[in-house]
Amino acid sequence: MDGFNSADEVIEAIINDIRKNLERSKITYKNMKILITGGAGFLGSYICQVLIAQGAKKVICYDNFASGKKENIETLMDKDNFEFHFHDISVPFNPEENVEIVMHLASRASPFEFEHHPIQILKSNTLGTMNALEVARMYDAQFFYTSTSEVYGNPDPSHVPTPETYWGHVNSVGPRSCYDESKRAGEAYVKAYELEYDIPIRIARIFNTYGPRIRGGPLFGRVVPNFIEQALNNEPISVFGEGKQTRSFTFVSDEIEGLLRLAYPGITAARGEVINIGNNQENTVEELAKLVIEMTSSKSAIKYFALPKDDPVRRCPVLDKAKKILDWQPRTSLRDGLRYTIAWFKYMLQ
Ligand SMILES: NC(=O)c1ccc[n+]([C@@H]2O[C@H](COP(=O)([O-])OP(=O)(O)OC[C@H]3O[C@@H](n4cnc5c(N)ncnc54)[C@H](O)[C@@H]3O)[C@@H](O)[C@H]2O)c1
Repeated sequence: MDGFNSADEVIEAIINDIRKNLERSKITYKNMKILITGGAGFLGSYICQVLIAQGAKKVICYDNFASGKKENIETLMDKDNFEFHFHDISVPFNPEENVEIVMHLASRASPFEFEHHPIQILKSNTLGTMNALEVARMYDAQFFYTSTSEVYGNPDPSHVPTPETYWGHVNSVGPRSCYDESKRAGEAYVKAYELEYDIPIRIARIFNTYGPRIRGGPLFGRVVPNFIEQALNNEPISVFGEGKQTRSFTFVSDEIEGLLRLAYPGITAARGEVINIGNNQENTVEELAKLVIEMTSSKSAIKYFALPKDDPVRRCPVLDKAKKILDWQPRTSLRDGLRYTIAWFKYMLQ
């Protein structure tokens, strides 16, 4: 199927690609001890796999499978240098291991989850961030936080593309506030620990990322998996509003490479920095729907629904900092990224 023989082969090709690109720039986590929260999720599981593939001394993963899956880390479970803890990170924890980097990813991230689990989301990004920071403080480790483009809220057009210096335009009591505002508070916690305890910190603001292993379905689905599943099932593609809102879709291999560059202690200029990691190619949601229909040869029609409250009109990052400090920019076109993602979904839906 599209040059692959299984869903695992699709993932393997992506992991190899990330490794190759990192190692070309001499970025390696070999012999390091890293703790990662949310490591069983979409992005976290790729990070765990790349770190193990690079020969990390130990990768310690904390996750409670709120939105992640055991299957995502199944191939790592029997590795001597991988350790898994089933744990809700909004409750304090201690790995009792001298970790060098704490990567905090644990948080539900799909808009449908905002509606159903707002308190958990708030806790993961506030108490959870504080608990993860305490681990970094205990072991004198570097702290890496995965924030989001959602901290920018719904910027007016003069602030799109959006640089890291933009302070945001966010509704603190809207349907997305549990996520947007807790990520903003999460960033504030990280800065506070830097200020008070001099912890070396790095913050990534991630823009919509998609790829194989992203969850679909009514609770976890985000726009790309939803469209692909609907198209493969020849069901109507549900577009909100007129579909003219834009997103900048980042393919997972680009995103993980960017994150692992930002988290890499050897890139010392990244210390203390907040950096957008996303794609600056903007597409409308309607364009995405049409492309998915074409690439899946689907009989689906587009069905338009009311635009959800506070849905951002445009999303597009300024990537100057990422280019300058990390020597990184995305290289995968939407069409190429969708080719991998559709191939993977075809196997998973078989
Ligand atoms: N994927 C994206 O497009 C995107 C965009 C912006 C920001 N981010 C951020 O990146 C991080 C990873 O996102 P993802 O796409 O992999 O999401 P995901 O839902 O696939 O992964 C999140 C992981 O965190 C775990 N988790 C959630 N709450 C937890 C808790 N209280 N205790 C322990 N584990 C918990 C989940 O089980 C899951 O494995 C999140 O912080 C998210 O906000 C992602």
